[in-house]
Amino acid sequence: MNEQARAVLRTNDRGGYTVPTARLYPFQWNWDSAFVAMGFATFDPSRAWDELDHLIKGQWEDGLIPQIIFHAESDDYFPGPEVWGIERSPKTTGITQPPVAATAARFLFERDGDRGRLSRVYPGLLAYHRWFRAARDPQGTGLVATLHPWETGMDNSPAWDGPMSRVPTSTTTVIRRRDTGHIDPAMRPRAEDYQRFIHLVDTYREAGWEPSRMWEVAPFKVADVGTNAILLRAERDLLALAEVVGSPAERVEIAGRIAGLEKGIASLWRPELGQFAGRDLISGEALAVGSSAGFLPLFAGAATPGQVVEMAGVLKRWSQLVEVLVPSTAPDAVQFEPLRYWRGPVWAVVNWMIAEGFADAGDAETAALIRGQTRGMIEKSGFVEYFDPRDGAGAGGATFSWTAAIWLLLA
Ligand code: GLC
Repeated sequence: MNEQARAVLRTNDRGGYTVPTARLYPFQWNWDSAFVAMGFATFDPSRAWDELDHLIKGQWEDGLIPQIIFHAESDDYFPGPEVWGIERSPKTTGITQPPVAATAARFLFERDGDRGRLSRVYPGLLAYHRWFRAARDPQGTGLVATLHPWETGMDNSPAWDGPMSRVPTSTTTVIRRRDTGHIDPAMRPRAEDYQRFIHLVDTYREAGWEPSRMWEVAPFKVADVGTNAILLRAERDLLALAEVVGSPAERVEIAGRIAGLEKGIASLWRPELGQFAGRDLISGEALAVGSSAGFLPLFAGAATPGQVVEMAGVLKRWSQLVEVLVPSTAPDAVQFEPLRYWRGPVWAVVNWMIAEGFADAGDAETAALIRGQTRGMIEKSGFVEYFDPRDGAGAGGATFSWTAAIWLLLA
């Protein structure tokens, strides 16, 4: 299995960056490549740093590290560069994804101690975190906003149903989906979801991808618990790296953002769910759907001891309803769909983060349970995109990079 996992990463290597899987996702994706870098770090440290270098090649002057970097052309994916309409080289999308990159950089550095490689990526990571604060929390609330569900990495989570229902389905771009030609449509977001996704892309393209204009016109604006938790974890990791290659002023600056995020995330606890949940920043309402993202504050060290116990209890309840933890949507929620992408299936990367969080919080038992089930589902079904929580059967794309990377991290 270790050999096979390494082979998946090698096969998906396009010369310094890795595609999530051939055909379905033929470019470099932001958070995928952070996990991939950690996977490579287990057997090829230099190649691991290359992955982060290539990610930073797509960075904008204002600090944004985009969701997708279109290093090479491909007809296999919609919406491609022409829909985003961004004149840059390399071409990119104009939105971001959960910022796992600084966490990956720390992981790499702690393994090989390569200060030279670290110094090359550190400025880009710092600029990226500054961008989150400036572009996505202009009022300094502590929580950063997400303007497109794709930015959360959990594209069609039921948490977005409420806020997305306000987004019109009209598009100026003609929709030509490619994903449903590669994968069973029953496992992919619905047509209506796609129209709204593209409506948002059209809206922001018309706003010139300028952060303050996007902020003003955004018909979708949420504080995603997953993104904020991952950012808090990343800020802590960046602070550790700033001890090595940063300045005292930078450490003060990062510590300030950490304090803001800690306060913000504490306000997202939902006692009725026994979990954290995001907030709709337009209506002000809680996005009160139980989800795997609701455990991610553990990964950020942002849960109190009592909250850790509550969340372990929620998982125990879920484990009576499904065979494999952690379903992306609460299995007792009406929105639960065990095979439809982020509305139920299990994702290895999310499991890895949740297990790290439980372990760091001192709950080794829950961490071991999740890690064991994650290994079990990959052993059973291979390095697929995601898994059916009812039996661990594989779904979505095959030979997936981040699933292989997580296997190596758990090995
Ligand atoms: C899908 C997933 C996203 C992932 C991407 C590439 O869009 O929702 O999280 O980054 O595929 O694997």
